[in-house]
Amino acid sequence: MRTNNFLGKDWIDAELDFTKEEWETLIDVALELKKRHAMNEDTSGILKGKTLFTMFFNQSLRTRSTFAAGIQQLGGFHVDLEPGKTYTPARKGFDIPYKTERISDVARMLSRVGDAIAIRMYGPPAYWIYGFANATMKEFAQYADIPIINMECDKFHPTQALADLITIKEKFGTFKGLNLTMSWAYSGSIEKPRAVPQSVILAATKMGMNVTLAHPEGFELDPEIIETCKKFASQTSGSFRIVNDFDEGFKGAHIVYPKSWGSVYCFNYTNEKGETVKKNDLKKAEEVNEKNKHWRTTKKQMELVDKHGIYMHCLPADRGQEVDDDVIDGPRSVVIDEAENRLHAHKAIMAMIMGGRL
Ligand code: CP
Repeated sequence: MRTNNFLGKDWIDAELDFTKEEWETLIDVALELKKRHAMNEDTSGILKGKTLFTMFFNQSLRTRSTFAAGIQQLGGFHVDLEPGKTYTPARKGFDIPYKTERISDVARMLSRVGDAIAIRMYGPPAYWIYGFANATMKEFAQYADIPIINMECDKFHPTQALADLITIKEKFGTFKGLNLTMSWAYSGSIEKPRAVPQSVILAATKMGMNVTLAHPEGFELDPEIIETCKKFASQTSGSFRIVNDFDEGFKGAHIVYPKSWGSVYCFNYTNEKGETVKKNDLKKAEEVNEKNKHWRTTKKQMELVDKHGIYMHCLPADRGQEVDDDVIDGPRSVVIDEAENRLHAHKAIMAMIMGGRL
């Protein structure tokens, strides 16, 4: 086991802030913890007496249940600070008397009491301003003396990406030489964050995979993240390309990951001074969405992938829109393995940054 240089670090922009070797360590730790869990071994000494605070500004099944179960299995416990039932943490300029509490006070107070703060925020609580939720987490990190864990913001969903890499490692034993396609898929819901596709393409290029990003026009991701993927691909001798054709994305892929995300028209954009530079246009968002209903994963579509190819999705999936039942419930689907691996991914992250020793 490599030495633990994770202690006390924030897990916010994890694809950018942790090295390839550190991601590999986390995968190893997660698989070790998974094995111990399967053998019913007692791991409750790893985070004995440690407290995790969770704050969900949005709905969640997988992230909520696996963080809660994970900390308990490692000997700690979690306190769910439901925004609205506590005073909702707010950034400077967004205060509402007796409803919100300034993040600087919340973060400093919780640092005196517990061992990490895990936050989920995107969409309406972040005013659909692209980057607002990520900046909120960084404001927590600025004032907290304990690690901040990103449980999905408007830019990244790094705990999901780690679970996805664990699943790929289990299925294929390696990352090198694998073709992974992150594809947009149709959904009746036009407002969704870009966090999953952005984290998946960053993590996959970081691991040296051959990554294709497939989406219709209007669903472009953050240009800075695209540039980082190109840089990662060149550093790891993998590859990265973007296609605007659903079939092209699927051809020869070992892993297809088709899911919906919001078009460029869904978001408000601000500059560094916080001034609005572009407002959302939901009519245009509806138009580009409805034009691309055929981006649905069917059994026939899956015939284009490699003969050992697998279907991934972070869940929840919009069945009959993003994907047909016979694909997501079919033999190539690994979606429940991915969801289970959230538990082991989160345990590895918490063990390494909150002070566990293996
Ligand atoms: N994939 C994922 O994050 O699931 P939840 O929204 O249920 O947490």
